[in-house]
Amino acid sequence: MSEVLDGAGRIACEISAERIAGRVRELAGQISTDYAGERLLIVGVLKGAWIFMADLVRQLTIPVRCDFARVTSYGMETETSGEPKLQLDITESVEESHVLLVDDIIDTGICLSYMMDHLRSKNPASVRLCVLLDKRVRRKVEIQPDYIGFEIPDRFVVGYGLDCGEQYRELPFVGYMKHDD
Ligand code: IMP
Ligand code: MG
Repeated sequence: MSEVLDGAGRIACEISAERIAGRVRELAGQISTDYAGERLLIVGVLKGAWIFMADLVRQLTIPVRCDFARVTSYGMETETSGEPKLQLDITESVEESHVLLVDDIIDTGICLSYMMDHLRSKNPASVRLCVLLDKRVRRKVEIQPDYIGFEIPDRFVVGYGLDCGEQYRELPFVGYMKHDD
């Protein structure tokens, strides 16, 4: 299935479920090697990260703990609006533990650099960032993810956890809106 019909147009597949699965396996292999023998807490950013994180942790070959945080600055818009706000904090201890922050996409970088600073303020052994998608051309703050699934052009994407006004998170692939004009 490479296209999904939608009232507003079509969602065209940009990255297939098979390509995502292959890349997630590679990232998990790299993370398992890098953190072998270390204490690792994986922190997913709700809500976008949950599908990616669920697939990623199941491909790891090392034991990890998992937690979630939620940060918002998006409304129903497709642009980051103003100051990020922490809506839900982690509850796991980060003492003597490495932290890997996981998110679906890095765009301006505003939310994720806020989250990285927030996690660093808890004094873990280290904080790194893993994103499935990187829209590098959109960056407004200096932040470079440590693990990147795919670099993508400046186009609003949905599926595999990514939404547009809470729609399309359930699509098994990453796609973009295609209009009939
Ligand atoms: P940033 O602070 O601008 O980097 O925003 C990151 C957040 O914006 C991500 O976690 C997503 O929730 C959302 N976002 C950015 N670009 C897209 C997109 O193309 N599709 C869906 N959500 C996006
Ligand atoms: Mg998000």
